[in-house]
Amino acid sequence: MLEKLKRLPDDPILGLAAACRADPNPDKVDLTVGIYMDEQGICPVFEAVQQAQKALAAEEITKAYIPPVGDALFNSGMQQLVLGTNSQALADGRVASVQTPGGCGALRIGAEIIQAAAAGTRVWVSDPTWPVHIPLLGSVGLSFETYRYYDPATHGVNFDAMVEDLKAAGRGEIVLMHGCCHNPCGADLSLSQWEVIANMAEQQGFIPFVDIAYQGLGDGLEQDAAGLRTLVARLPEVLVAASCSKNLGLYRERTGAIIFLCQDKTNADALVSQALVAARRVYSMPPAHGGLLAGRVLADEKLNASWRSELMTMCQRINGLRTDLATRLNKTGKGDFSFIEREKGMFSFLGLSPEQALRLRTEFGVYMLDSSRINVAGVNASNIDYLVESVGRVL
Ligand SMILES: Cc1ncc(COP(=O)(O)O)c(C=O)c1O
Repeated sequence: MLEKLKRLPDDPILGLAAACRADPNPDKVDLTVGIYMDEQGICPVFEAVQQAQKALAAEEITKAYIPPVGDALFNSGMQQLVLGTNSQALADGRVASVQTPGGCGALRIGAEIIQAAAAGTRVWVSDPTWPVHIPLLGSVGLSFETYRYYDPATHGVNFDAMVEDLKAAGRGEIVLMHGCCHNPCGADLSLSQWEVIANMAEQQGFIPFVDIAYQGLGDGLEQDAAGLRTLVARLPEVLVAASCSKNLGLYRERTGAIIFLCQDKTNADALVSQALVAARRVYSMPPAHGGLLAGRVLADEKLNASWRSELMTMCQRINGLRTDLATRLNKTGKGDFSFIEREKGMFSFLGLSPEQALRLRTEFGVYMLDSSRINVAGVNASNIDYLVESVGRVL
């Protein structure tokens, strides 16, 4: 029976990264996968995480399962990190969360909860969105509608079109939003635009599901969560999928949280019970290591301060690279790339055609997605000149 199954194509992003690794070109540049890389091209382990890891290794006397809901320090730390320490919803006990295997696990459990509440619910996704959203939510049985979001002509958010499309989002429907550092386009909403979405959700009764995978890598931890917190302060129900892959560097440890903002505590408890039953049938128990590390880093004053400072350095480096790249590309005289500086987080579309992206790959060893999405954090002092020159040559 199994022999009937055909080989499927590689994941488009991971496949490109593998092709780059196999490329013998000594000048090759990998701008594919969304991983933060430092000046040396290394995805570093935060100093605070290293310290937490040493302490954990010294103290850990068992590898028995952690509770299905996850580590308590982790859950409270994540709720405060995402919603803010002075969140009224937290004080009111309307918030609950469950530790999940990464942000992907959080998205999946969120989808399971939505499906349990109303099978086949329509989920509005931005055009474009992170491609993995579709299988993660769709395989549960939810259906999709897109709302216009990115305008390639202005390299910004087409907010009028977004609002126009979301006027059709009805009561009980879900609007999936990127909390900050939109993947793939890097164009984020302003705070006043988040307010408009909150007004619409209030009036129309749709429920935001906010995917926040890059908190701290746009403008800073508090600034990057401000839009999401606007929704939470105003609405009865919001779902949040938070990832610790990028901002705590815990990628392979699969660490994330699904956070529910509910009408009241009774409902919050009910959602946790639903999430645990869903988790039991999907992956059973959360992985422990990342949650235990993140829990310690978030709870310990010294580790927390060290982590915040290292994260801010990363954020500033990304923003510095954005300025540098925009300035140098503008100097080629082949177009206006100032938008790179306005966008946030790790990603931007360079605005190249798929043919130009392909030429960059085959002729120059510069790897980006066919959509010309680049991981800005893959740029560094030793590859920026070559990158700019190569882009200039295909334009
Ligand atoms: C938009 C978005 N959401 C969620 C995730 C989830 O990441 P993870 O499952 O590694 O926490 C990612 C990772 O790339 C992402 O880009």
